[in-house]
Amino acid sequence: DKGEFKHYMLKEIYEQPDAVARTLEMAIDNHAPNALRTDFLERHGEQLSGVRYVQVIACGTSYHAGMVAKYWFESITRLPCSVEVASEFRYRNPVVVDNSLVICISQSGETADTLSALRDIKKQNPAGLVSLALCNVPTSSLVRETDIFLPTLAGPEIGVASTKAFTTQLVALMLLMLKTGHVQGRIDDEALSNHISELQKLPGQLYASLHLDAPIKAMAEHFEDKKSCLFLGRGLQFPIALEGALKLKEISYIHAEGYAAGELKHGPLALVDKDMPIVVLAPKDSMLDKLKANMQEVHARHGELFVFASETSGIEAEDRLHLVNVNDVCETLSPIIYSVPVQLLSYHVAVLRGTDVDQPRNLAKSVTVE
Ligand code: F6R
Repeated sequence: DKGEFKHYMLKEIYEQPDAVARTLEMAIDNHAPNALRTDFLERHGEQLSGVRYVQVIACGTSYHAGMVAKYWFESITRLPCSVEVASEFRYRNPVVVDNSLVICISQSGETADTLSALRDIKKQNPAGLVSLALCNVPTSSLVRETDIFLPTLAGPEIGVASTKAFTTQLVALMLLMLKTGHVQGRIDDEALSNHISELQKLPGQLYASLHLDAPIKAMAEHFEDKKSCLFLGRGLQFPIALEGALKLKEISYIHAEGYAAGELKHGPLALVDKDMPIVVLAPKDSMLDKLKANMQEVHARHGELFVFASETSGIEAEDRLHLVNVNDVCETLSPIIYSVPVQLLSYHVAVLRGTDVDQPRNLAKSVTVE
C-alpha cells in the first residue's frame, strides 16, 4: 500500500529514517550507547577475529554500498578490502586469499551472479573462509548458503529502484566493520563509542534531509529536457555519485555517469558545455578543497552545476551554480545522508518526464537470470 504517496519509491525514500533506526537497533542499545550489543553477531565473534582480508561481491546499487564499505574497512580498521561486481568476479578465476571474509550484498538474496560468485568461492575452499550475506530477505538463497546472515531491516522494497535497501546496507556494513575492528583490537573502546554516538544521530539527520524535498523538486525542473548528466564526488562520495547516476538513468532514462571528480581532466571534461548538468556532492570533508577546484574546472567551461553541499562548505549559489544546503554531518557517515538528495532528484526528474517510476522499462526487481 502506497498510502499517501504517489509511488512506492517515494514512500520508500521517506521510510529511511525508520528503516535505518531498526537496522541500528540490531547492534546498538539506546540504554547502553557506548558499546555494541553483546548479542550482535554474538555467535560469530571468533570467525570475525580471524579475518585478514575482506572481499565484497555485489551488483548494481548493492555494489555501490560495497564501495563505501571498502573506504570504511581500509581507513578505519586497516584490513585490506576489495569490491567487485559479481558478473566480473565469477568469470575471471580470481584469487581468494586465506582468511577472507566474503561479504555478498544483495537486497533480494536471489541475484544470479552474486550467488554464482559465492558458490565458486566456496568451491575453491580457501582456508579460514567466512561467508556473509548482507540481505533484506531472510528466506533467500543467499542467506541459506552463507555462514553469517546480517540482515538489513528495510522492510519489503517494492520500487525497482533501490533506496531504503541501500541506506540500510550502508548502516549494516558500518556495524559489521565496527564489530570486526573491535574484536580484532583495531578499534578501541573510545573510538567505538564515538562511532556509535554518530550512528545514533542518523535517523534524525535522515529525517532532516527529507525536508530538502521541495528545493530538490524545484531543481529537478532544470533536468527535464536534458540528454546527459554527470555526477561528481570524491572519497566517500564517489560511490554516491555512481549511485546517483544509476538512479537517474534507471528511472528517468536520462543518460548519466558518476565520476570521481579527480578524473574529470582525464576525459569527461571534454563533455562539459552549457547544456550539461553536473551534480556535485560536497559535504564538508577532507576532500572539499580539491572538490571545489574540480567545480571550478567545470564552471570555467560553462557547465551548469547542481550542488548538494554542507551549509558550512563556503559554497554559495551564483550564476550557473544551483545550491541545496545539506545539514552538516560527520564525514564517515556522510554517504548515508547524501544518498537522500540524489534519490529525491532522480525521483522528481522521472516524475516530470512521466516515466514509470516504480517499474522502469526493461528492468526487474530481482535478477535471477544471468
Ligand atoms: C538499482 C537496483 C539494481 C540492484 C541490483 C542488485 O536501483 O535496484 O541495480 O541493486 O540488481 O540487486 P540485489 O541487491 O537484489 O542483489
